[in-house]
Amino acid sequence: MTTPPSTLDTLGRPVRDLRISVTDRCNFRCVYCMPKEVFGRGYRFMDRKELLSFEEIERLAGAFVVHGVEKLRITGGEPLLRRDLDVLIERLVGLGNLDVALTTNGALLPQKAGSLVAAGLERVTVSLDSLDDDTFRSMNDVGFPVTRVLDGIDAAAAAGLKVKINAVVKRGVNDDQVVALARHFQGTGHILRFIEYMDVGATNGWRLDDVVPAAEIVSLISAELPLEPAEENYRGEVARRFRYADGSGEIGVIASVTQPFCGDCTRSRISAEGRLYTCLFATKGHDLRALVRGGADDAEIHATIGRIGGRRTDRYSEERSSRTAELPRVEMSYIGG
Ligand code: GTP
Ligand code: 5AD
Ligand code: SF4
Ligand code: SF4
Repeated sequence: MTTPPSTLDTLGRPVRDLRISVTDRCNFRCVYCMPKEVFGRGYRFMDRKELLSFEEIERLAGAFVVHGVEKLRITGGEPLLRRDLDVLIERLVGLGNLDVALTTNGALLPQKAGSLVAAGLERVTVSLDSLDDDTFRSMNDVGFPVTRVLDGIDAAAAAGLKVKINAVVKRGVNDDQVVALARHFQGTGHILRFIEYMDVGATNGWRLDDVVPAAEIVSLISAELPLEPAEENYRGEVARRFRYADGSGEIGVIASVTQPFCGDCTRSRISAEGRLYTCLFATKGHDLRALVRGGADDAEIHATIGRIGGRRTDRYSEERSSRTAELPRVEMSYIGG
């Protein structure tokens, strides 16, 4: 089949990047994402039958590829908790000519890196907010030791995966770790990116004072390890890149609070139960599972995706400061980072 032109949304943006959440569960309780007080014993996670099956995910992903999607990111929750994830990856890689990536907390990488590579995965992004064990344990809030995530990163690299590291920076919690993280990964070939703490979801008690602006992160590092700005790899890249002046690699900063990038946002997200969200801060999703389970044929699925894409108006991060009423939002662990 020849690829029809991509549907553009109301701001002229195509959809290029589809992020698929495969579970809403996680073995961590990061304070900025799944605070224990909310995601405790009584919290009701999705039942297995509510989750999209691998067949359903493959079918929907295939439909998005026809609409111009070039990049698939598997997220969660913690995606490696989903049984047989390598089987799904193999199917998604099999859709052909796509950049398939996985975002994980790294805890299960020592066991799983080999099978992910065998399934055709080429790269992973591992979340790591601190090298200091006490800080790391209190941020993941389940007492998970940092050495085991570092082992996961090593296992991924040893298995042949390209590795990126994501660190969310929260003022007064791990801002003292910024330079240490930069030093640790300098020269390893792993690209470290610092993410401004975002007001995503409604449970993390976000305050603007908790955000460490990307510009501050860059100056902190550059004061010790000189940096120079680097050009974008592709239009709409989320991270701004900086190169070490001595040629020992690069870092990135994701400034979604202080320098929003909605204008070039080509992302859509599918939750583990098959709802489509056209923004990380969306309040409402579109039920694609009902469509698929209701027996829709490919033409109907394509038409629905095109219709939703064409109506998209999202630019939450650019509007953040002018918002007055707070609408209910979905959690990052539900929608996928
Ligand atoms: P690669 O460059 O291919 O690795 O992909 P990426 O930049 O999309 O990386 P990744 O998925 O690791 O995204 C990094 C983080 O940036 C996410 O986990 C979010 O915290 C943040 N982010 C990604 N996409 C968006 C977005 O659309 N809006 C906002 N506000 N933040 C985003
Ligand atoms: N702000 C910024 N990043 C977040 N992440 C999770 N919650 C937030 C938040 N409130 C990050 C994780 C992971 C990625 C999926 O999203 O640390 O790297
Ligand atoms: Fe789990 Fe990732 Fe959320 Fe932490 S940020 S609780 S590892 S989904
Ligand atoms: Fe895209 Fe919404 Fe993030 Fe803006 S806030 S970059 S529209 S996902």
